[in-house]
Amino acid sequence: MILSVWRFSHFFLACISVFFLIGASVSGAILSFSSIEQENRNNQFGDLDSFSVSQLCDSLESKYKETYSIEMKQGLAQVSLLTNDGKAETIYVNPITADQVSPPKKESRLYSLTRIFHRSLLLKKTGRIVVGISSLLLFFIAVTGLALLVRRQGSFVNIFKKISKEDFYTYWHAQLSRFFVLAIVLIALSGVYLSLERFEIVPGEQAPVHSAVQNDLNQFSPIKASDVSLFKNVSLAELESLVFPFSPFPEDGDHFQIKTKDSDVVINQFTGEVISTFNFGFQQKFRVWSYAVHTGKGSISWSVILCMACCSILFFIFSGLQISLKRLKHKKLSTSENSESEFIILVGSENGNTMRFARSIYDLLILNGKSVFLDYLNNYKSQQHEHHLLVITSTYGLGEAPANANKFLKKLHKAKQSAAFDFSVLGFGSRNYPDFCQFAIDVEEALKKHTNATKKTGIGLVNQQSKSDFNSWKQRWCIDNKLSNYSETTENTNTYQQFEVLSITDAALHPKHTFRLSLRGDPKTEFVSGDLLAIRPVEGEQERLYSIGVGSEGEIILYIKKHFFGVCSQQLSELSESDKIQARIVTNKKFHTPEDYRSLILVSNGTGIAPFIGMAFENKSNAVIDLFWGGKSAEDFQLYEPQLSDLKSSGRIKNVYTVFSENKKDYVQRLISESPDKIIEALSNGASIMICGSIKMGQGVLDEIGVICKKNNLEEIDFYKDNGQIKMDCY
Ligand SMILES: Cc1cc2nc3c(=O)[nH]c(=O)nc-3n(C[C@H](O)[C@H](O)[C@H](O)COP(=O)(O)OP(=O)(O)OC[C@H]3O[C@@H](n4cnc5c(N)ncnc54)[C@H](O)[C@@H]3O)c2cc1C
Ligand SMILES: Cc1cc2nc3c(=O)[nH]c(=O)nc-3n(C[C@H](O)[C@H](O)[C@H](O)COP(=O)(O)O)c2cc1C
Repeated sequence: MILSVWRFSHFFLACISVFFLIGASVSGAILSFSSIEQENRNNQFGDLDSFSVSQLCDSLESKYKETYSIEMKQGLAQVSLLTNDGKAETIYVNPITADQVSPPKKESRLYSLTRIFHRSLLLKKTGRIVVGISSLLLFFIAVTGLALLVRRQGSFVNIFKKISKEDFYTYWHAQLSRFFVLAIVLIALSGVYLSLERFEIVPGEQAPVHSAVQNDLNQFSPIKASDVSLFKNVSLAELESLVFPFSPFPEDGDHFQIKTKDSDVVINQFTGEVISTFNFGFQQKFRVWSYAVHTGKGSISWSVILCMACCSILFFIFSGLQISLKRLKHKKLSTSENSESEFIILVGSENGNTMRFARSIYDLLILNGKSVFLDYLNNYKSQQHEHHLLVITSTYGLGEAPANANKFLKKLHKAKQSAAFDFSVLGFGSRNYPDFCQFAIDVEEALKKHTNATKKTGIGLVNQQSKSDFNSWKQRWCIDNKLSNYSETTENTNTYQQFEVLSITDAALHPKHTFRLSLRGDPKTEFVSGDLLAIRPVEGEQERLYSIGVGSEGEIILYIKKHFFGVCSQQLSELSESDKIQARIVTNKKFHTPEDYRSLILVSNGTGIAPFIGMAFENKSNAVIDLFWGGKSAEDFQLYEPQLSDLKSSGRIKNVYTVFSENKKDYVQRLISESPDKIIEALSNGASIMICGSIKMGQGVLDEIGVICKKNNLEEIDFYKDNGQIKMDCY
């Protein structure tokens, strides 16, 4: 909820200011070049910081008869003076040598027009108001964006930690925002301030005030400006202007008056003493600072950053649009509004397969002329109108909900549904798992208990996406709802890529017929250890998943057990070097290693070791990894041994603990139960335990960890599963 408020605000603010922001960013980027040119000009005669006002006065005294005033302009000194021929002139001089130079070049027309556009969008006063408001909106957009970034990274301190890879626009939107958010906040705030000043809401330039000062009438000989000691300590870079005393007579009360960035000082022309100092206050300094921050004045590097920040705003607008369009496309699963639909389909799906089937039912309802609303189970809202609720969900983990359905039962429990509705549930799962379609069963039970709900069609359970299971239930459901059953629309639209076999071992040489297959794909394809490779062995059949370990050369390493009647494992075992296969990467975020981990416990049996070998290869910072592995025999272990001993000797794995079941029915669970100290230390220090392999082993290991937690007054095991410290990928 909070996330959506931030997201909505970010999106809404960007929408209302988008055109002004585009205009301001493009013109801002152009103007930053003007600032860079200006800075280059300012220092064209050398570093003004290392020359004093006194040196300039000295040069002027030696070259001209009398000087009246100096004003620094674009790195030149504009001087009003009396030449040696007695002519009064205002000329530009080199501030170091006092030689006359040509006046500064007029600003190019492009820059002056761009500046007018940037300040008022060529709309005069209205434009200035709009620009001021847009700056304020930009500030709020940056703040809401920062809030979204903090939520995405988990906390403020994690902002500069690795950003998980998503699609191009989402990734770079987040990546660039953390580098430019501060610059954008500063641009926005200084822009607001300058607008307020333009409308005189905040005071403008401060005029110096000096108390009236009289000269001592007995002093008659003025000193030279170059002898005034204060001028020796003020650099030309600090100088704004210097006015010389006009009259040398004490009764006229004339003085030197020097203005720098920080102060305005009146100096006695006879003694060189400071008579009065007016220090500019915070407000004046803040306005000078705001101007410098907004325009890049005074710093080439800041001007470059401003230019990049302006370009980044343009990228944020474009990528934000792409992200929003994608989100809308994703969100707008249905054509009708929730509140008016006759049918509401809520889906739980981890990898999108169940959604394919749900869409086919959605299409069927549309073909029947019904209004339908399709969404994920987690987005469930209670309804105030009569409707039919159809829940279609898979089961994950060990009888648990898929990620986009894990809040549904709680929401249903709390919902205040006033109108009556009827419901049906269709579950997707696999009979290979002990809790076949358990989550769908739980959902049906919860709905049955709901006061206003009536069951329409009994629950359907689909094993391994079987079309016949699905079609027979759909037939029943269509009859119950008086719908015509149109033909199938459940085609697999996944796209597959080519992978080349780099090497393969002989399954026949392994006691459990397990083999190692290493593959190379398109170098642009991204994956990490723990992701899955999906292979569809037969057209129209279900995909098989294999855990990926990333090898030392970035190749995919799979360890596959060849099943006697197994379609896919048989096919793969018959591959030879250089053969090509079609497959796709399934990102398996929940089974990635934690970021910047310092220690990790990995528990596996059989081929479950595959992602762990890859994770150890990826452990470049030599974090402490303890690997537990259970198998049938020492011979069974030989397939993995060469890789593991390399990893151990390079320090990427600290300890490997093995157990073999062939003699004493000894399993990896025993190793865990005998290592309570390691488990307690890991769980209490926030380290992770990752489990991969057979479901039976996974359950056994969880039981042992549960016992350790209970005995040692740690949290319940579900706590560690929920906070991601215990990660499982069992099959
Ligand atoms: C997240 C995940 C990760 C996985 N990672 C790996 C991995 O790293 N390594 C790995 O080896 N596996 C892994 N698997 C399992 C893999 O996806 C396949 O399920 C496995 O390879 C079997 O597929 P298959 O096509 O060979 O067998 P299938 O054709 O799907 O057969 C499944 C089972 O039924 C049996 N069977 C098939 N036909 C008959 C018949 N006519 N009579 C009797 N029995 C029959 C087979 O022997 C087999 O045991 C993973 C699964 C998941 C879900
Ligand atoms: C890691 C994993 C765990 C699973 N756990 C279960 C389970 O406990 N019970 C079950 O019936 N099916 C389980 N399944 C099978 C899926 O529910 C089934 O493949 C489903 O069709 C997937 O649909 P989806 O891609 O839409 O989520 C599991 C599948 C995987 C990959």
